[in-house]
Amino acid sequence: MGRLQKILIPLLGLVLAFWFYSARENFKPEMLKGKRVIVTGASTGIGEQIAYHLARMGSHILITARTEVVERCLELGAASARYVSGTMEDMAFAQHVVREAEASLGGLDMLILNHVGASYFGFFDGDVEHVRKLLEINFLSYVAMTTSALPMLKESEGSIVVVSSMAGKVGFPFTVPYSATKFALDGFFSSLRQEFTIQSINISITLCILGFIDTDRAVRAAGAVLRELPAPRDECALEILKGAALRRRELYYRYSSTRLPLLLRDCAAELLDYLVRSRYRLPGTPGTPSPAL
Ligand SMILES: NC(=O)c1ccc[n+]([C@@H]2O[C@H](COP(=O)([O-])OP(=O)(O)OC[C@H]3O[C@@H](n4cnc5c(N)ncnc54)[C@H](OP(=O)(O)O)[C@@H]3O)[C@@H](O)[C@H]2O)c1
Repeated sequence: MGRLQKILIPLLGLVLAFWFYSARENFKPEMLKGKRVIVTGASTGIGEQIAYHLARMGSHILITARTEVVERCLELGAASARYVSGTMEDMAFAQHVVREAEASLGGLDMLILNHVGASYFGFFDGDVEHVRKLLEINFLSYVAMTTSALPMLKESEGSIVVVSSMAGKVGFPFTVPYSATKFALDGFFSSLRQEFTIQSINISITLCILGFIDTDRAVRAAGAVLRELPAPRDECALEILKGAALRRRELYYRYSSTRLPLLLRDCAAELLDYLVRSRYRLPGTPGTPSPAL
């Protein structure tokens, strides 16, 4: 038994490593050249970096952001770059962004849903209205945009990319409303993927499960209480685009702090809960609201 384990475990590791790295090697930036892409929440953080990578790859980009990001995208080589501004609390705005893509790009190849509303970092404060508002921004607007974009994505056999979090796969303390919205995304988009398969609809859905990333807001909110170092946002953005271009169902970044601990979920859920809690320096846990992870 001991000898069998000695052989089986490294062999399994090798198979997993081969599978993971061979998928990464197949990516070529030309895959995204000339593609018509919407990126939401691109004024800062991971979305901004996604827009810059797409620009370098020569995509047509429509972002929800501000002017400076568009100017930088054009400098970096975007085939075209436009922006629309508004709030995703308003479902009419979410639908308007998709109509803009239709009018200005003449279709859509990829819808990258990335924006996230501000929340607090601390114990659940009982504010139900805040949970409702966050569900509108982080979840319902994703549903509204997807619904509006479906005809164009069906025509292009395109892709939907949903930026989620470890907090959308396992319970996280101190971000209860945020975590709820991310779990909702998994439920909706994983079920939708099933229906696409049944109906032979060739639209890929890539759910991105991210760990702690070094965006300004995340570091401000949790940098002092998390024991781990954040991963770089530009690398994270590139991994998201690779996963999307390769039409992967789920993307884990970084793998070691997301996919590997999640392997415990079904066989040792309490151990996983413990590991999640041990990421925090508990005595320093803030009770005051701060921006969301
Ligand atoms: N950073 C992390 O550690 C981490 C970890 C796991 C998952 N994620 C996920 O990664 C994605 C990006 O996170 P990030 O850290 O890059 O966030 P970020 O830097 O805070 O950027 C959030 C973006 O969403 C936009 N936004 C906020 N409220 C909005 C609203 N009501 N309507 C429309 N747009 C709105 C912001 O625009 P304004 O600047 O104009 O407000 C900004 O462009 C999110 O889905 C997040 O959940 C991040």
